[in-house]
Amino acid sequence: MERTYWLEQGFNLRELYSRDRIAAEVLRLGKEISAAYAGEKILVVVVLNGAVFFAADLVRALRVPVEMDFVKLSSYEGTATTGNVLIKKDLDKSVDGRHVLVVEDIVDTGLTLTFLVDLLKKRGAKSLKICTLVDKTERRLAEINADFVGISCTGGFLVGYGLDLDESMRELSAIYEVIETPSGGDA
Ligand code: IMP
Repeated sequence: MERTYWLEQGFNLRELYSRDRIAAEVLRLGKEISAAYAGEKILVVVVLNGAVFFAADLVRALRVPVEMDFVKLSSYEGTATTGNVLIKKDLDKSVDGRHVLVVEDIVDTGLTLTFLVDLLKKRGAKSLKICTLVDKTERRLAEINADFVGISCTGGFLVGYGLDLDESMRELSAIYEVIETPSGGDA
């Protein structure tokens, strides 16, 4: 499914980051992360659902051995943060004594990641680093920074390459800003 369908549904989407730009950032991140973990094995913790697309590409750009596990957290309803973070699906593996790399699609207020980082520390991770494809800096509430950042941007509501608006538009292969929704309001 590409953008045309959503334009026909009344969404106004502006392309921000092309598929090629994303692929280039993923390759760069793969090199940076591989250098940082040379000689180590890492446990990649993927934050469901959005980061699945990014994580699948990222791990294939790594040159260090990885295991993957998945966690599902919820802090959003629609496009506004609630500030409440719930574990909807926990990890299957233990992080105790492991080098853990958390992979997120986007960091916005930082509340979700703060919750997850605290949890993984309590569970005994040997080291903990964060990689996000998009770092949205404008609305940061928690003092948390990713160690590896694909793209920095200030604001807007983004969809595509895993990012969703109420579960829609994840499948778009570029990243778009939602300028207007069919109801006429901004996202
Ligand atoms: P935070 O806790 O505010 O940092 O929110 C992180 C989560 O909110 C991400 O994992 C996304 O699921 C969601 N999110 C934040 N900004 C956007 C956006 O622009 N588009 C889609 N999802 C977003």
